[in-house]
Amino acid sequence: MSERIVLAYSGGLDTSVAIGWIAEATGAEVIAVAVDVGQGGESLETIRQRALDCGAVEAYVADAREEFAAEYCMPALKANALYMDAYPLVSALSRPVIVKHLVAAARQFGATTVSHGCTGKGNDQVRFEVGIQTLGPDLKCIAPVRDLALTRDKAIAFAEQKNLPIVTTKKNPFSIDANVWGRAVETGFLEDIWNGPTPDVYEYTSDPASAPAPDEVIITFKEGVPVAIDGKAVTPLQAIEEMNRRAGAQGIGRIDIVEDRLVGIKSREIYEAPGAMALMAAHRELENVTVEREQARFKKTVGQRWTELVYDGQWFSPLKQSLDAFIGDTQKYVSGDIRMTLDKGRPVVTGRRSDSSLYDFNLATYDTGDSFDQSMARGFIELFGMSSKVASGRDQRLAEGK
Ligand code: ARG
Repeated sequence: MSERIVLAYSGGLDTSVAIGWIAEATGAEVIAVAVDVGQGGESLETIRQRALDCGAVEAYVADAREEFAAEYCMPALKANALYMDAYPLVSALSRPVIVKHLVAAARQFGATTVSHGCTGKGNDQVRFEVGIQTLGPDLKCIAPVRDLALTRDKAIAFAEQKNLPIVTTKKNPFSIDANVWGRAVETGFLEDIWNGPTPDVYEYTSDPASAPAPDEVIITFKEGVPVAIDGKAVTPLQAIEEMNRRAGAQGIGRIDIVEDRLVGIKSREIYEAPGAMALMAAHRELENVTVEREQARFKKTVGQRWTELVYDGQWFSPLKQSLDAFIGDTQKYVSGDIRMTLDKGRPVVTGRRSDSSLYDFNLATYDTGDSFDQSMARGFIELFGMSSKVASGRDQRLAEGK
């Protein structure tokens, strides 16, 4: 039996060509693997048929939308994960779930090698291959664009020569990766970092300047996860989808940054993640109400480290798992409602209520009902400033040469 290679397959030109390209270059049989993480577009059935038409011996398709939302996006929400304080890890989150399915397909069809369509310049090759090494240490990795000289021009020529059933004429200038957590757009004229994004860059969001009337929403969380919107129960996937729609209509979650890739390149990225950004704003505020101060401060550091690990392709690493345990523990009391107004690009929190709130009206109030003994504050401040006061006394003494 000839060797078998599973290929991460999107249905687009490059990976469609990769099926035949890999087969010719290696003599192996190719099994196409398509994973739906909410990227929209064609049905899995259409993609499966195209893979077979392009020469795949088998096609494995998986609707992983609920799995992706619950097991990948929700941990990111709990961590308030924003790489470089801005990017909600859209692509970085989808790679590990795709890896899981690639390895499962390799096992099912007896493949020895896993292949993906990434270039040698990005983060995604690292995320795929580190993930595959971890879940399937016996599996080899191959990337036709990087390792088998499959360029865009050659892909078009190959598709025409072999009469592959794909449209090669309409050339999108952008490199796009999308899933339910958001959408990433790069290359083309965006590579000049002085160029502003044009309206055609966006798909998940409308122009905030021409948004309809503000939209008030109440999001109910249970242990850090949204469980209802405006009183109607939702799954994590439904929560993200509904907020994508409503926050997207208000132009929330547009991001334009120059980002530090793991491989050392700075790259210009446009993202849109309306649901993710709106849910995160609500989640963060509910944490403000329910998480104890020291825990909250430390969690911020942990969340940042978690985010960097996930960005760097370390989803399956021991440290990432340990940090998950910490973050999970902090979410015990993050339950309750957040009311917010989605308004022209901004999710504005206007109310919060929670049975596990740490907000104590009688401690906070300046009105009647005050239960805080203000006389305690003097002594507290005296001791709190003591070490600085002692040090400053020393500095003065030495400056005066005594
Ligand atoms: N720079 C982002 C990341 O590394 C997005 C990459 C998305 N890929 C794409 N072909 N646009 O997570």
